[in-house]
Amino acid sequence: MGSKEEKEKKISKKIDLIGRDIITTQELSVEEIQAILQLAFEMKKKRYSDKWAKLLERKTFIMLFYNPSIRTRQSFEAAATELGGHAQFIDASKERLKSVRASVKSAGESIHDAAKVMARYAVGIGIRILETSVDNYGDGNKVLREYAKYADIPIINMADDIYHPCQGLADVMGMMEHNNNKPTRGKTLLQTWAKGALARSYCSVHESLLINSRLGLNIRLAYPDDNYDLPEDIIEQVRKNCKETGAKFEIIKGDPVAGYEGADYVYSRNWFSKDFYKIGKEAEIKRSTAEDKQNWICTEEKMKRANPDCKFIHPMPVDEDNEVTEEVNRGPPSIIMDIAENRLHVQKAIMAMTMAGVKVKLED
Ligand code: CP
Repeated sequence: MGSKEEKEKKISKKIDLIGRDIITTQELSVEEIQAILQLAFEMKKKRYSDKWAKLLERKTFIMLFYNPSIRTRQSFEAAATELGGHAQFIDASKERLKSVRASVKSAGESIHDAAKVMARYAVGIGIRILETSVDNYGDGNKVLREYAKYADIPIINMADDIYHPCQGLADVMGMMEHNNNKPTRGKTLLQTWAKGALARSYCSVHESLLINSRLGLNIRLAYPDDNYDLPEDIIEQVRKNCKETGAKFEIIKGDPVAGYEGADYVYSRNWFSKDFYKIGKEAEIKRSTAEDKQNWICTEEKMKRANPDCKFIHPMPVDEDNEVTEEVNRGPPSIIMDIAENRLHVQKAIMAMTMAGVKVKLED
């Protein structure tokens, strides 16, 4: 930012997210991302301050889960409690909702009606809907956007089949904490595919690529072969983000080691192949753990090629001995527990800003 006037305008401006849906960080401005992170840092530092204790007093946040979760459910429940409100858990499979699968015609309540009714009870709705609940890539995100269309309260994406904004924000917060609380611009992130027995979703990987490329990190994306190409629109967006910040974007195919050279952060995580929606989970896992994939694991040996202070990151649950060895996952480079904790803080910040009207003045 150039002139004195522009600088003053930026300093005096308050970031306001009241009523906003949070579907992906790509739909937030960089200033809005910074504001959420700034508030999350403050909330972490003064965790039980009276400042936040009544922000959602007597108010309800509905959590609608089409797929299970550990961290997301627990951290949102804790977040609502710490803001003085209540998080209500709903298992979508137990409700009389119309099927969200294009291939299944079923009687039941429409998203239109469900969304409008929930909006009469709550101040926000979180939704999780992953690939195993829908027929085609992107259908989960479409469901989420349909709820957003009809509910006149914020919809928070708790992970869909494309995006996972709360995870991306928690990752960045952890990466900053381990960079003396400074922005990570100019650092290098290796986002590497890993073998795995869980056929992992794209959402955390996409969100990491998107948010970190927005924030000026050099991105290296490594994976075995064309089967693991990520969707073209995501790659194009990451490329565009990197161009805008002047950062490098490199795709490394077929080499599980090269990307480690000089990396500052290593994010080793499985994702399923392009055929997943056709071949299903079992065939996917067989392909992903085949003999030719055995070297796609983050090890101490490989971490030695990275910068000395390189950190290992992962959204959890970790597939230990497939995605990463125990030594790395539980050793000094690992910041996964800090990141898991940060889910709570970024979600508190999101709820405070979108549901309780907290505005944030950006610090310099
Ligand atoms: N990282 C994450 O979303 O974890 P859960 O699937 O346990 O919620």
